[in-house]
Order: sequence, then structure tokens, then C-alpha cells
Amino acid sequence: MGKRITDKVTWVGKVDWELKKFHGDEFSTHRGSSYNSYLIRDKKTVLIDTVWLPYDKEFVNKLKKEIDLREIDYIVANHGEVDHSGALSALMREIPGTPIYCTANAVKSLRGQYHEDWNFVTVKTGDTLEIGDSTLTFIEAPMLHWPDTMFTYMSGENILFSNDGFGQHYASESLYNDTVDAGELMAEAIKYYANILSPFSPMVTRKIKEILGMNLPLAMICPSHGVIWKENPAQIVEKYLEWAADYQENQVSIVYDTMWNATRKMAEAIADGIREADPSVTVKLFSASKTDKTDIVTEVFRSRAVLMGSPTVNNGYLYAIAGILELIRGAKLKKKKAAAFGSYGWSGEAVKLMNEELTKAGFELVDDGFRTTWAPDNEALEKLREYGSAFAAKL
Ligand code: FEO
Repeated sequence: MGKRITDKVTWVGKVDWELKKFHGDEFSTHRGSSYNSYLIRDKKTVLIDTVWLPYDKEFVNKLKKEIDLREIDYIVANHGEVDHSGALSALMREIPGTPIYCTANAVKSLRGQYHEDWNFVTVKTGDTLEIGDSTLTFIEAPMLHWPDTMFTYMSGENILFSNDGFGQHYASESLYNDTVDAGELMAEAIKYYANILSPFSPMVTRKIKEILGMNLPLAMICPSHGVIWKENPAQIVEKYLEWAADYQENQVSIVYDTMWNATRKMAEAIADGIREADPSVTVKLFSASKTDKTDIVTEVFRSRAVLMGSPTVNNGYLYAIAGILELIRGAKLKKKKAAAFGSYGWSGEAVKLMNEELTKAGFELVDDGFRTTWAPDNEALEKLREYGSAFAAKL
């Protein structure tokens, strides 16, 4: 079952081609995912992380075909979330007492989830575990993306086991970054960053600089989701530094929802105006109710600016817009501009309310927004095109 990575390291995880939603309904995983677990066989035998709970018995049964479980000297739990710790209970029933190396916060998260008093060995940054020819060095990485997260570096093989960091929800029968579609891989890597790690960008920058300062030779980065960065592993580190630094492309995202197409027509006219004013800008339109929300967050992450559109209903904005506003608030995006627009028949509060939420989410409003009564006529559409051009000029 295992896939050999080096003489000492074997991948013993689970590729989940079926997974289409992750974190409940929060994160779409169009291309599936994997839960990577790694078995290290040096003079001592170490298991790094496990797999998601639904695959716990399958994981343990396959691991038994790879190794006599009693030969496992240590378990390393880089992070307590259930997609990596889910098979611990099944495994610990077989080998109770095996030490689990993890951070103090991981003890809390594992105890809190599994209510077991396993043989935890708490580690801090710089603590090491001699396992023969190689040494494991633990590096706490709090908030990448949980307070309990750590990385584990293996000398000799020069592998960084980075758990969620540098991961992607990307199922592949191939293990390595240079043997999969490069475009798909980077699309999944940035989606992962935008939706999971973006709120913690300042910590990402600090942690990467700290690790680079340790001058560790790096042959591979082995994350706990997706493929292993084997060919030029520094490329994903460089990308993370770029993404963590208020990333933006020359893109404007227009995110709207509509009841009777008036606000959609407004969105399209604004898009025309932006393109007329600056053909170099990529303008993309997303119906918040029809487009995958995780993809919308990724597109907003890539954008210099966002225009949010909703008609007014019940003195507010539409449900789908409320969801997107909440997601982009949580992503803690910085240095992005924004404006709001929408049609209304009677009271017209949606634009003002969206302005307030965009401001709270950290966006810089370029103006008070644009409102139209009822369906926009030709005169209103012309004004919207002019508004789009003026918006482009303010970027
Ligand atoms: Fe992949 Fe935070 O778990």
C-alpha cells in the first residue's frame, strides 16, 4: 500500500478522490484531496500524522500490511485536526502507550476531540528526536493554521513535514509536484492559501523567514494534503511569501446577486466601463448564488478590487451576498479596494449596508457606491459604464 519516497520514508496516506466538500460545507474540493501520512524507518520507526476519521480502519489495516504496528516507536502529530488525527483512536487501540509527539496545544485539541489520555510527549521549537542516522527537529507553527500546528524536519533526508502548510486539496495517484498538471496544482495551492491560510499571513511570513534563517537543506516538502514538493521545493515557499504579502493580480472581481436581473445588468455595464477604461485589467463576474463560494474567495484574494452588488430586499442585501461578505471578512484581506452597487424599488439600503461590511472586512471604499431604481434603462446603463470607468481610474 505504501509508496516509497526515499529509502527511509514511505507515504502511507489516503487519496480521497470522492471528497467534494471539506470543513463541512465550507470549502469546495473539486479535485478531491489526500490525507498524507508518512512512515519513517530509521533505527527507530516513526509515523507522521494519520488520516481523516472515515478512513481510520482502512488506514490501520493497510498500515499493518506495511509494518508490524508494534515496531512503531513514535507517532508525531503535527496538528490535531480530525483530517490528520482521525485514525489515532483506531491506531492507539492497537499500540496503546506509543508516545505521541506534539505541541502542548495539540495535547489540548487531541484530548478535547478524542477524550483519551494517550502518552503525549510535548515538544517545542528546536526540540529534537534522534531516530538513528536522522534527527527529527520540531518547529512550532502556531496559527498555520491552528494554534496547535507544528512542522517536523528530518535531517539526512532533508524533508520538511509541513502538515497543512504548502498543502493542496488535490487528489492524485502521482505523489510529486513535477508529475501532475502544473496549472491545476497551483490553482489548488492558491485556493488552499486564500481560504485557509490567508487570515494568518503575517504569521506565515514570520514562520517562513524563521525557517529560512535556520539554513536547513531542503530536498522535499511533504505536506499533509496533496502532492509532495520535490522538484524545486523552494517554489512553493516563494509563492507563500508572495501570497502572504497583500497579494493581488491586475484583476477586478464583480460579485453580485440578483432577483430579477436588474443588478446583473448593472454588474455587466460596470464591467464594460472598467474594460473600456483599462483593457489591461482582468474583470470577472460572479453570481454569488450560482458560483462556488470557495472559488469566489480565491478570486477576491487574487483581485486588486472587488465590486459587490445586491438589490435591496427586506431593508438589506441578499443571503448569498451576506455569506460572501462573511467569508471575505474572515480571510482578513488587506490593501484591496472596493465599492458596492445595486438596484432597489423602495428603500434601497443594500449599498450602504454592503459598504459598512466591506469597510469592516478591511477593504478601502473608493466611493459611496452606485444605486439604480428598478431595472436600469439605457441612460442608467450608460451611467453605470461611466461609473465602471471611473472606478478603474481610481485603482
Ligand atoms: Fe488539514 Fe487543519 O487540517
